[in-house]
Amino acid sequence: MLPLLKTTVLVTLLAAVTNGTPIEKKHDKFIVHELESAEFNLHDKRTTSESQWFSDTGARWFTKLKLGSSQEPVRVTVDTGSYRLNVPVPGATCLKKTCAPDAVFHPENSSTFKNLTKGSDSTYSGATTKSFKANDDLYFDNGKKIPGFEFDVSYESSGDIGVFGVGDGGDANSNYVFAAKHAGLTNRAGYSIYLGSEKDQGTLLLGGIDRAKYEGELVLFDAEQNINATSVITASGKVFPFTKKVGFDTGNAWVALESSIVDGIYKELGIDSQGWFDCDRVLNTTESFTFDLGPINITVPYSSFFYKPYPNYSVCAGHIYKAPDNAGAQGLGLPILREVYFVKDLETKHIGIAPVKRTDDTNIVDFWF
Ligand SMILES: *[C@@H]1O[C@H](CO)[C@@H](O)[C@H](O)[C@H]1NC(C)=O
Ligand SMILES: *[C@@H]1O[C@H](CO)[C@@H](O)[C@H](O)[C@H]1NC(C)=O
Ligand SMILES: *[C@@H]1O[C@H](CO)[C@@H](O)[C@H](O)[C@H]1NC(C)=O
Ligand SMILES: *[C@@H]1O[C@H](CO)[C@@H](O)[C@H](O)[C@H]1NC(C)=O
Ligand SMILES: *[C@@H]1O[C@H](CO)[C@@H](O)[C@H](O)[C@H]1NC(C)=O
Ligand SMILES: *[C@@H]1O[C@H](CO)[C@@H](O)[C@H](O)[C@H]1NC(C)=O
Repeated sequence: MLPLLKTTVLVTLLAAVTNGTPIEKKHDKFIVHELESAEFNLHDKRTTSESQWFSDTGARWFTKLKLGSSQEPVRVTVDTGSYRLNVPVPGATCLKKTCAPDAVFHPENSSTFKNLTKGSDSTYSGATTKSFKANDDLYFDNGKKIPGFEFDVSYESSGDIGVFGVGDGGDANSNYVFAAKHAGLTNRAGYSIYLGSEKDQGTLLLGGIDRAKYEGELVLFDAEQNINATSVITASGKVFPFTKKVGFDTGNAWVALESSIVDGIYKELGIDSQGWFDCDRVLNTTESFTFDLGPINITVPYSSFFYKPYPNYSVCAGHIYKAPDNAGAQGLGLPILREVYFVKDLETKHIGIAPVKRTDDTNIVDFWF
């Protein structure tokens, strides 16, 4: 395991080096990316409405990919909201600075690298990463590979390192989730996310579902991205119905809801004129919100959304943000995802949710729906 990063980001998930190692033999066509996160930085009070883009929320997952015939390990940010891989090459800039050495891919060291010489720019939340399309083999620790995986080699990156998109879009050559299936490594273009008992642990499981990690039955939503959820309910029973769709956002460290709901919840929890809350009411409490998603309710402690800015403060601040009015959906981020086992099937377009069961046991099965 790699040491925890001490950074100023809120949550940084960092993959351990067991990338690609099967956990169990029962169903062997899956890929595991172990995740690890840095400690929360409670002082990082985010004031503006949270964007759905991970670099704004600080909710980042890192993994190392082995690229090219040299199987060079390249550190990338995992992003469920985009669908291409881009990696900086020597001479590239990252946020206008020199890129971190472990994030740079050296095409000159790979005998299988092909520069497709076609420009490919990706825009993340305003900033553009400038690249050329390329392809090369993508290796896993067990020796398996996705041959000729298409990705982008950037010369000007809008992030501090490259981005590994695992979301919807693109084609079977460039979309990692589909390419893994295409290469025969999984039976289904889908993945599961488990965030462990420690806030710094998690697993991104490609092509499988770990039945040991959730309670009861997986509730399936016939949805690609967003669902029609019902309401959010406070501990005192006050119900705030959702009027817009709700999306699960692994890139959001917190939660973004429609403005009227945020105002309502904050008022209900006693926000003062300065925007503060009584810590006993929101942090030092076992009370929780219920997110009524229709067929399933997810309970999330108030304390997951509030923090004390300084130890000597008696007031607390909140991490429930207003989704931009023009946003198509509200974003349920990590505090909610931490309470569930989350399955996403890009192929049959389903989202599966069940209350998480925190355990080291595993029982990985194939997608059955
Ligand atoms: C890539 O090649 C350079 C020399 O061309 C060498 O210094 C470097 O160690 C190589 N890196 C890898 C990851 O093989
Ligand atoms: C890829 O090809 C383009 C166009 O010829 C070139 O400008 C760029 O430097 C090449 N990149 C790499 C990594 O070879
Ligand atoms: C969600 O609600 C909209 C409008 O009420 C409806 O058209 C749509 O079919 C619903 N979607 C699902 C998956 O239930
Ligand atoms: C939390 O509340 C309990 C009683 O409800 C109190 O005894 C304790 O001192 C409080 N802890 C903090 C850190 O305020
Ligand atoms: C979720 O909670 C609400 C409020 O307590 C309740 O009305 C609803 O029936 C619950 N839904 C499920 C699926 O248990
Ligand atoms: C609390 O601590 C902060 C930072 O150390 C300091 O700036 C502030 O003056 C302190 N406030 C009180 C009320 O002691």
